[in-house]
Amino acid sequence: MSTAEGGMSGSRFILERYRELLPVTDATPMVTLGEGGTPLIRSCRLEAELGLEALYFKAEFTNPTGSFKDRGMVLAVAKAAEAGAEAVICASTGNTSASAAAYASRHGLKAIVVVPSGRIAMGKLAQAVAHGAQIVAIDGSFDDALRVVRELAEKHPVALVNSVNPHRIEGQKTGAFEIVDELGAAPDVLCIPVGNAGNITAYWRGFSEYYQMERVVTRPQMWGFQAAGAAPLVSGVPVAHPETIATAIRIGNPATWDGAISARDESEGLIDAVTDEQILEAYRRLAPDEGIFCEPASAASLAGLMQQHAAGVDLSGKTAVCIITGHGLKDPDTALEIEADRVESSAETDAVERALGWG
Ligand code: F0G
Repeated sequence: MSTAEGGMSGSRFILERYRELLPVTDATPMVTLGEGGTPLIRSCRLEAELGLEALYFKAEFTNPTGSFKDRGMVLAVAKAAEAGAEAVICASTGNTSASAAAYASRHGLKAIVVVPSGRIAMGKLAQAVAHGAQIVAIDGSFDDALRVVRELAEKHPVALVNSVNPHRIEGQKTGAFEIVDELGAAPDVLCIPVGNAGNITAYWRGFSEYYQMERVVTRPQMWGFQAAGAAPLVSGVPVAHPETIATAIRIGNPATWDGAISARDESEGLIDAVTDEQILEAYRRLAPDEGIFCEPASAASLAGLMQQHAAGVDLSGKTAVCIITGHGLKDPDTALEIEADRVESSAETDAVERALGWG
């Protein structure tokens, strides 16, 4: 099959758009939910504040399940189906499980998700439930969940769709292709939150492939940011008990450790830690100042950029892209902790006028 199911075409179907750069064969089922083709949104306020030439937000939260995971999952689940799998399995802090469950549904496969109990943002859990995934909530961390699913996938006929599956990284590298295709060049700096370290590895691969193919003449510095309570790539040793408000990146022993370090070193970039306070500060700037409502982990990319600026790094003349990885609606609890501008009123116009301070 060479055309998308349902006739969907163009930029929002990465398996077709970047087919020649992906492991897609004639036997790969071309199933799509409309992933990729996400907007690159120019900053309206923070760009000037940070002294950048240009600042863009890559709105990965506009993917079908509300996170960047769909880029990798559309390929990983298609390849699992192509290989005859009947079930997919993953460990997750929430977004991977939401995405795996959606694509498994679309392919008519069973999805099994293993998650740290009580540590998944509400919206993400709702997605896995809605798609009919079989959910196992373990008394342990994401790192424990990943160990368990790796062992299960060795013993049972299920396809593992975490980013240790190479198809996940292949699909996710298309985010870098889209940035270059849209800007006509690579940015100077790419800011990205880092948890299990698949995405920073994927973006670096995407930029590097375009560079090798001479579709672009430079590559960005990769600036990865981990939460301070879960920053093994910064300290150089796994964290036994990771802790952060950004539950999506609450990971103590990233599976693609070496990929992240290579991305950092080959790009002459950095991987640094941002505190929960810095993450929340960036989170609370993005929605009111830029119109971008993301989940806390996603704000780590901007938090890191703000941190570098505050530390005196000169950003003048530079173009930066922050990857905004997941939607704010996934974690309504954190959003509602913001002090709202809200009053109760009776249902009369004059009462609402008074509530607004107009009368
Ligand atoms: N941002 C969000 C919103 C995420 O969900 C994740 C990872 C990351 C950033 C970090 O990406 O792991 O490739 O370094 N979420 C995974 C999950 C672990 O299970 O949904 P990474």
